[in-house]
Amino acid sequence: MHSAIVIADAISPVLESFGRLHPLLVHLPLGLVFAAFAVEVTRLIQRRPTVSAFTPIALGLAALGAVAASGTGWFFAESEASSDSLFWHRWLGISASIVLIALAWLAARATRSSGEGAQITPIVRSVLLASALLVGWVGHLGGDMVWGENYVLQPILKAWMGAPTKDDTGAKEGAGTGTEPDKLAYYTSNVLPILQDRCYQCHGNGKHKGSLSMDVRSSLVSRDSRGSWIVQAGDPAHSLMIERCMLPAEDDDAMPPKGDRLKASQLEVLRTWIAAGAVMPAGSATGEASEVGGVRGAPVPASTAENRGPVKVAKGRSAGLPALSDSQVAEAAALRGNGINAVPLSIGASTFAVSIPGGKGVGDVALAALIPIAPQIEELSFARAAVSDAGMMQMPSMPLVRSVRVDNTALTDVGITVLLSRTLEAETVNLVSTSATDGVFMVLAKLPRLQRVYVFNTQITAQGIDRFRATHPGVEIVVGAAVPGTAGTAGPPVGP
Ligand code: HEC
Repeated sequence: MHSAIVIADAISPVLESFGRLHPLLVHLPLGLVFAAFAVEVTRLIQRRPTVSAFTPIALGLAALGAVAASGTGWFFAESEASSDSLFWHRWLGISASIVLIALAWLAARATRSSGEGAQITPIVRSVLLASALLVGWVGHLGGDMVWGENYVLQPILKAWMGAPTKDDTGAKEGAGTGTEPDKLAYYTSNVLPILQDRCYQCHGNGKHKGSLSMDVRSSLVSRDSRGSWIVQAGDPAHSLMIERCMLPAEDDDAMPPKGDRLKASQLEVLRTWIAAGAVMPAGSATGEASEVGGVRGAPVPASTAENRGPVKVAKGRSAGLPALSDSQVAEAAALRGNGINAVPLSIGASTFAVSIPGGKGVGDVALAALIPIAPQIEELSFARAAVSDAGMMQMPSMPLVRSVRVDNTALTDVGITVLLSRTLEAETVNLVSTSATDGVFMVLAKLPRLQRVYVFNTQITAQGIDRFRATHPGVEIVVGAAVPGTAGTAGPPVGP
C-alpha cells in the first residue's frame, strides 16, 4: 500500500513531462497531413490516376504522430479544466488518429498502378481532404485553449472592427506604454470584460465574496487579512489575483472556484494590466460602488458608526433592503419593556440602532429579546450595560452590524470574541475600559471590513498593537482617550 503511493508519486512527474511533449508533437501530424494533401492536389491537377508513393508514408507517420499527440494530450489535459473546447479537442483528436491509420493503409493500396489503385484513389483523396480539415479543426481547438479564441485572426478582426475582441491579447501596448487614458481604455476593453465574465458573479456589482469587491480599485489594490496584496500595482508576480487564478482547478483556493480556468491569454491581459499600474476608474466600474459601503478599501462615508446619532449614519450597508414596516418598528419599540432601546436608524430606514442602557437591572436577561430583530441591527451598543461573557453566548448572528460598542462592560476576551464572531461585518469596535487583552486581535483579524478599534484603558499592549498594525495597515487602532461617543458620558478616564 505504502509502496504503491510512493510509486504513484514517482510516476506522476514523469507523466507530467510526458504530457508536456504534447504541444511539440501536435505539429507533426498537422504538417504531414497537409504535405500529403498538397502532393495529392498537385497530382490531381496533373491528372495522375494513382496516389503518390510519398502519401502513405506521410500519412503513416502522421498517424503515429497523432497517436503520440493523443497519448501525451491525455496527460497534458490534467492541468486544464474541463471545457467544451477540451472535450471536442480530445475526442476529435482521437478520432483523427484512427482515421489517419485507416487512411494510411488505404493510401498504400492506392499507390499501385494496377486497376485497384486507380479505383480507390478518388476515395483516398476525398478522405484526405476530410482528414486535413479534421486535423486542422482539432489543432484550432487546441490553439484556442492555449492562446484564446481567434488568436490568429485577432489583429485582423481588430483592425477591421476597430474594437478589440473579447479575448484580445494584441492590445498590450495600450497598457504598457500608453498614457493614462490609454490605460483606462485597456482596462475597459480588455480587463473589465474578463472580470465581468468570470469574477463579478461573486466579486462585483455589489457582491464581495472574501470581502473583495472588484468594482472598487481600493478594494482590489489592497492587502488581504494575511497581508498579501490582492493586486500590487506594477507587480503581477506578487498579486494574489494572478496567483489564485493560476492554481489548478482542484486547489480549494483556485479562482474562479467553478468553471473553466482562465485562458492563458486572459491571464496575460490581467498581468499586463497590473504591470502597467492596474489603472481603472477610481470609483466604480459600474456606477454601483457607492452602494458597497464597507467593503475593504471601499470609499466609506466619513460618518459611519461613531454613535453620533442615528440620522447621520450612512445607509450603505442596508441599501436595497426594504424599509422597516410600521409593525416591525412597533415591535422593536416594545422591547423597551425588556430594557432594550431599538430605534430605526433614520426615517424610512431598514435597520435599527440597538442599545442597552447602562446600570444595573437589565443586562444578560434582556439579550434573548434581541433575537427577532438581529438581522436588522446595524448599530449595537452594550456600553456600560450589565452584560457578561455568558450573556454573549446567546447572541445570534447579526450580519448587518457595522458598529459594536462594549466599552465600560465586564466583558473579557471570551465574551468579546464570541460577540465579534457574530458581527463579522463590523467596521468599528469600541473596547474601551474592558478587560480585553492582545487575545482579541485573533477575532479582530477575522473582520474583513474592520476600520477602527478603540482600545483605550484595556490590557492590550503596545507590542500587540504593533503586530496587528503590521498585518492590517488599513485598520486604525485608537489608543488615545478621546473616543467619540464616549466623551462626556461618564466614559473612560481621560489620560495623556
Ligand atoms: C463563485 C464565486 C466566485 C467567483 C466567480 C470568483 N471568486 Fe474569488 N473568491 C470567492 C470566495 C468565496 C472567496 C473567499 C474565500 C477564499 O479566499 O477562497 C474569494 C476570494 C478571492 C480572493 C482572495 C481575497 C482575499 O482577501 O484573500 C481573490 C484574489 C479572488 N477571489 C480573485 C478572484 C478572481 C480574479 C476571480 C475571477 C477570475 C474570482 N475570484 C472569481 C468566490 C468567487
